[in-house]
Amino acid sequence: MSLSLFDLKNKIALITGGTHGLGMAMAKGLGKAGATLVINGHTPEKMEKALAEYKAEGLTAYGYLFDVTKEEEVKQQLAIIENEVGAIDILVNNAGIIKRTPLVEMEVADFEQVLKVDLTAPFIMAKHVVKGMIERKAGKIINICSMMSELGRNTVGAYAAAKGGLKMLTQNMATEWARHNIQINGIGPGYFATSQTAPIRVEGHPFNDFIVNRTPAGKWGEPGELAGAAIFLASEASNFVNGHILYVDGGILATIGKPSNEE
Ligand SMILES: NC(=O)c1ccc[n+]([C@@H]2O[C@H](COP(=O)([O-])OP(=O)(O)OC[C@H]3O[C@@H](n4cnc5c(N)ncnc54)[C@H](OP(=O)(O)O)[C@@H]3O)[C@@H](O)[C@H]2O)c1
Repeated sequence: MSLSLFDLKNKIALITGGTHGLGMAMAKGLGKAGATLVINGHTPEKMEKALAEYKAEGLTAYGYLFDVTKEEEVKQQLAIIENEVGAIDILVNNAGIIKRTPLVEMEVADFEQVLKVDLTAPFIMAKHVVKGMIERKAGKIINICSMMSELGRNTVGAYAAAKGGLKMLTQNMATEWARHNIQINGIGPGYFATSQTAPIRVEGHPFNDFIVNRTPAGKWGEPGELAGAAIFLASEASNFVNGHILYVDGGILATIGKPSNEE
């Protein structure tokens, strides 16, 4: 088997929300496989810090600040990116938010904000990036889903609705665009150590113990452990994989778990 199947040299990859966390970890993986990185974020200080980190690791990365939920802004920035860096070969829809509130207490505005960032924004981004991919008859789109694309859990109803929707949006994008030689897939991360999970990842927090016990691998994921899945779905190695969600979760979706008193 040749590793050239995974080579991303001469490819341009746009990662939304790539200033830290899982987006940055996947971007670093794509960059190490040879891709030129276009990093989106919406906080100037975080962007500055992120670009310095990419540079320190020897990766070529360009930063663009825009809100992925605003269609006009997205269109303008995509035109600038195409002009300054080049056509986008790989789009990773990673930017996301979570609001942990029981549904009965949740404000409609908060519910809609989660849907906007986690579901509508990937649609907006893909809608405008795919046009060039259709013309070039090549492209890769990776939507970052979640185990909540498959499961419910207390307090994350809006997030689960959005991520479940993103799974179906991924399948529908594949349905409409696969015939143009574009592969659209998703990655469903399990529980990873990032700022999004920091509030529940503290020792003594019952949720922390629950996750460690519930995950067959017995630990939280390290962000770098997502890079392989991202490289696979961004590369030629996945050219006949479409509409698939690849769960990277330490086996958590494979099992119902075990009672806490059982070895
Ligand atoms: N961490 C986990 O265990 C886990 C598990 C399953 C799925 N996921 C998913 O993986 C993705 C990344 O998660 P993470 O934990 O790395 O999250 P994170 O650390 O909170 O990072 C989210 C990124 O998205 C950006 N962002 C948020 N709203 C945006 C907007 N409107 N426009 C542009 N950028 C925006 C953030 O920028 P700012 O920092 O500037 O706001 C940040 O760069 C998300 O889609 C999340 O739902 C995470």
